[in-house]
Amino acid sequence: MAESIKEGTIEEARKQAREAPVKRINGVIVPYFCSEKWILEDMRKTLVLRSDDNWVVSYPKAGTNWAQQIVRFIQNGGRADQIRITDAMPWVEGFNEIPEVGYSYGVNLNEISPPRSLQSHFSYTMMPCGLPSSTPGKYIYIARNPKDLCVSLYFYNKRLPFYPHYEWDELFEHYIDGEIEFGDYFDHVLSWWAHKDDENVLFLKYEDMKKNLPHEVARIARFLGYDLSSEMIQTIAEMTTFKSMKRDNSVNHSWESIDATSDTPFMRKGEVGDWKNYFSPEQSERFDAKYSERMKGIGLEFDFS
Ligand code: PPS
Repeated sequence: MAESIKEGTIEEARKQAREAPVKRINGVIVPYFCSEKWILEDMRKTLVLRSDDNWVVSYPKAGTNWAQQIVRFIQNGGRADQIRITDAMPWVEGFNEIPEVGYSYGVNLNEISPPRSLQSHFSYTMMPCGLPSSTPGKYIYIARNPKDLCVSLYFYNKRLPFYPHYEWDELFEHYIDGEIEFGDYFDHVLSWWAHKDDENVLFLKYEDMKKNLPHEVARIARFLGYDLSSEMIQTIAEMTTFKSMKRDNSVNHSWESIDATSDTPFMRKGEVGDWKNYFSPEQSERFDAKYSERMKGIGLEFDFS
């Protein structure tokens, strides 16, 4: 049964989020307002997949909106778009389930004109319309070093009324145990990394985008089948820097109803290495041990600097 967010004040939404029982789909924690019926049954039945669909998939806070905005500019020929990114490229798990809190999912997914872009926070094996290898369309996965991601998650949880407002130490424990929305970070990233060489998967890293954005824009364009001039690639890279996106009201999430106790913008810092300001030495050591254990011999490396 879907626990949709009730209409009411932000304080009521926060209370509802705090008190809602933990919801799991296939063992993985999802936000309490997600509908199991929609995700496991109805989406698959009703969403007509197309060969020119593209998906942007990520563990939350990995740079989803960044990749989406790049895709949007590539598809729009470098022209800006006033439509909120959440409407233009809907988050399918949240579809129809979070009215009245600043999002509008009054969009019929089948009516989005091609090429349609969809967003998901699921691991490879949990993709709601089936395994990407057996569906048409292309998948862009964006990964971010797990320490910076954890910090970003901490602030985001506090920002929105419909997420649990964990204190830092509390959030860290949930995160390191994988007992948090969208599950274990390593399971998620590694599920997509195993498919990084598939024809319909492009695996991106947040830190690579920070280092050389035009290069990553060009990779995304090529993957989507666009042959862009170097001027256009440069233009798109300039329009998708942190600074540009922060002032772009179609992507900076300024429309969201935020919790009164938070003054953190969605476009918060956009940096590599901010984790050093939040992880205690002991937390860092514990996390590094888990990281070594899970990533050993995998060939996936992140910049933590
Ligand atoms: S969400 O809510 O899961 O969809 O969030 P997501 O978009 O995945 O991640 C938000 C973080 O990405 C940062 N961000 C950027 N960083 C650098 N450059 C650009 N252009 C950019 N766009 C978004 C955003 O600031 C969040 O990270 P933090 O560390 O909190 O600043």
